[in-house]
Amino acid sequence: MFLTSLLELVCLSLCIIAVKGNDWCYQGCEYTPSHWDKLSHSQCGGERQSPINIDTSEVIADSSLGVFNFINFSNPNSMKYLINTGHAVKSVLENNMVEIEGGGLRHKYSTIQFHFHSGYNLWHPGSEHLIDGERYPMEMHIVSLKKGLSVDQALADPEGIAVLGFFIDVTDKEESPEKWNNLTSYLINITEKNSTVDIKDSISIDDLLGDVNRTKFYRYKGSLTTPPCSEVVVWTVFQEPIKISAHMVELFIRTLNSVKAYRPRQNLYGRKIYASPGINQSSGHSWCYNDHCDYSPSHWNMLPGVKCGGNTQSPINIETEHVTFDKSLNNFTFTNFSNLHSMKYFINTGHTVKCVLEENMVAIEGGGLSHKYFAMQFHFHWGKIDDHSDGSEHSVDSTRYPMEMHIVSVRKGLSVAEALKDSEGLAVLGFFIQVTREKTNQKSWETVTSYLSNIKKKDSTVEMSSKISIDDLLGDVDLSKYYRYNGSLTTPDCNEAVVWTVFKQPIKVNKELVKLFPSIMGYYDVYRPRQKLHNRTVRTSTAPTGPRPHLLPLLLSLLYVGCTWMGGK
Ligand SMILES: *[C@@H]1O[C@H](CO)[C@@H](O)[C@H](O)[C@H]1NC(C)=O
Ligand SMILES: *[C@@H]1O[C@H](CO)[C@@H](O)[C@H](O)[C@H]1NC(C)=O
Ligand SMILES: *[C@@H]1O[C@H](CO)[C@@H](O)[C@H](O)[C@H]1NC(C)=O
Ligand SMILES: [Zn+2]
Ligand SMILES: [Zn+2]
Repeated sequence: MFLTSLLELVCLSLCIIAVKGNDWCYQGCEYTPSHWDKLSHSQCGGERQSPINIDTSEVIADSSLGVFNFINFSNPNSMKYLINTGHAVKSVLENNMVEIEGGGLRHKYSTIQFHFHSGYNLWHPGSEHLIDGERYPMEMHIVSLKKGLSVDQALADPEGIAVLGFFIDVTDKEESPEKWNNLTSYLINITEKNSTVDIKDSISIDDLLGDVNRTKFYRYKGSLTTPPCSEVVVWTVFQEPIKISAHMVELFIRTLNSVKAYRPRQNLYGRKIYASPGINQSSGHSWCYNDHCDYSPSHWNMLPGVKCGGNTQSPINIETEHVTFDKSLNNFTFTNFSNLHSMKYFINTGHTVKCVLEENMVAIEGGGLSHKYFAMQFHFHWGKIDDHSDGSEHSVDSTRYPMEMHIVSVRKGLSVAEALKDSEGLAVLGFFIQVTREKTNQKSWETVTSYLSNIKKKDSTVEMSSKISIDDLLGDVDLSKYYRYNGSLTTPDCNEAVVWTVFKQPIKVNKELVKLFPSIMGYYDVYRPRQKLHNRTVRTSTAPTGPRPHLLPLLLSLLYVGCTWMGGK
C-alpha cells in the first residue's frame, strides 16, 4: 500500500512535466521550445497554448470571477519536499490536503505542487506570462487537479487542471519575507538535477503569497507550459506580484545552473482573456453613489461600454394607481430558500455587502417567469445612520424604505456573461426593509449583521459559519404579493437584462440592526436614484383593492373603504 501510494505521488508530481523517452529543454538540446511540437504525444503546436501576453486593454470584465476559497493554504505542514527537476524548483505538497474552489472555477481542485520559472540571470526576467508585453523576474505556478481525477484523467479533461500563476518581483528592500528565507535556505541542498530535500520548517502557501490581492486576477483557457503542453489548463494569473529580494531570485537562478527556465510567449489564436471584478474597480473607471469619484450616478452613462443611459433602467418609482393586474403572475416555487447551508460567504464590494450563495442550490421558478433561475447572491442597499433615512432603491408612490435587499438569480443554462446580454437573463427579487422597534424574530438579522465587522476592508470576505436560511431573513412577508417589470441592474454596467420582482410587504428589521450597515461599513446612501419608466408597464399579482389603509388614520381609512364601496373602481 505504502509503496503504491508513494509511486503514485512521485508520478503525480513528475508525470506532468515528463514525457517518457523524449528529452526536452529550454536551451542546448534537440527539443528546445520551438521543437516541442515534434515530441510524441505533444500538443505543443496547438492553438490553446500557454503562456501568453495579457494585453490589459483587451481583457473582458467578467463578474462571475468571484473570490476564491483557498483550503489549507494557511496550513504550515502542507509542503513535503523540494525537488530540482532540472527545469524548475518544485515543492511537492501533501496528498489531499490543499484545495481551491470558487474564483469562477466550475469545479473543486486538489493542489499537488507549486514550482517556479526564472530567467538565466538577474537582468533577464523569467516569468512565463507577460503583462502588456512586460515580463517579471519570476513566476510561481500552483498546480491543482480537478478533484477526484487521476493525473491521466486530468490530462484528458479540457478543465482537468487549474494553475494559479503569481508574478514575483524584486523589492528595493534587502530583506525578503522570513518564510521565503526559510524556503530558499533549502536550495543549497538541491543543486543537482533530480535531488530532493524534505521541508522541515513550518511554511504555508499563504506565507509565500503574502499580501497579494487575490481578488484581482485574469482568467483564460490554456495549456501546460512544458511538454506535453496538454490543453487542459484553466489559468488564473494574479495581477499583483509577490515581492522578494534580488538575492533570493538569484538563489533560484543558481539552483537551476542559470538556465533560461520559461517557455516563450504563445499565440492567442482568438482566445479571450477575462478579468475579475477586482481588477476593473482599481485599474478601470471608478463609479460611486456620491460626488467623490469620477462617475457619480448621473454620469454612469458616460462609463465606457455601459447601458446606464438606456430606456429600461432600474430602479423605478411604482405608482400603484397605474399598475396593471396580471393573473399570470402566480405563486413562485422557491427551492432551498429554507436550506441552512446555502450561504457561502459575505464580501464587502466597496459598494455593498454581498452574500454569495452555493452554486446551483437556491432556485426560483413560477411567479410568471418564463424560465427557471438559480440565485447567486443577495446584497443590500441602505441610507444614512439617522433615524429617518431612506436607502431603498425602488419606491412605491414616491415613498422609499430604509433599506432594500436584492436576491440576484441567473437564468438556468446561461453563464453570467450570457445572462447579462439576454433581456430575461437575470431575475432579481427586491424586498423592502422597514424598521421596527420590536426585538422579536430578529435572530437571523442579528446573525447577518454580526459578520459586518469582519469585512470593514474593501474586498475582504468572511466565511458564513452560522446556519440560517434565506427564509429566515424574509420572515413572514407574503410572497404572493408583488410587482413585476422589465428593467436593469442598478449598478454599472446597468445591463437591461433583469426581470424585476418587487414584493409589496416589507421585511421588518430592528432599527438598531439596520443602522449597523452604514455605521460599520463606513459608506452610506448606497442606492441609485429613480429612473424614468418611459413606456414600460408595471404589473401586479394582486387584484386591485382600495388605497393602502395602513398609511391612513383609522377613521379616514374607514371613510375611504366606504367610498370605494359606493363609487366602485
Ligand atoms: C486541512 O488539513 C488538515 C490537516 O491535514 C486536514 O485535517 C483537513 O481536513 C484539511 N482541511 C480541508 C478543508 O480539507
Ligand atoms: C543542506 O545542506 C547543508 C549544507 O551542506 C547541510 O548542513 C544541511 O544538513 C542540509 N540539509 C538537509 C536537510 O539535508
Ligand atoms: C418583459 O419583456 C418580455 C419580452 O421581452 C415581455 O414578454 C413581458 O411581457 C415584459 N414584462 C412586463 C412586466 O412588461
Ligand atoms: Zn509552470
Ligand atoms: Zn441591488
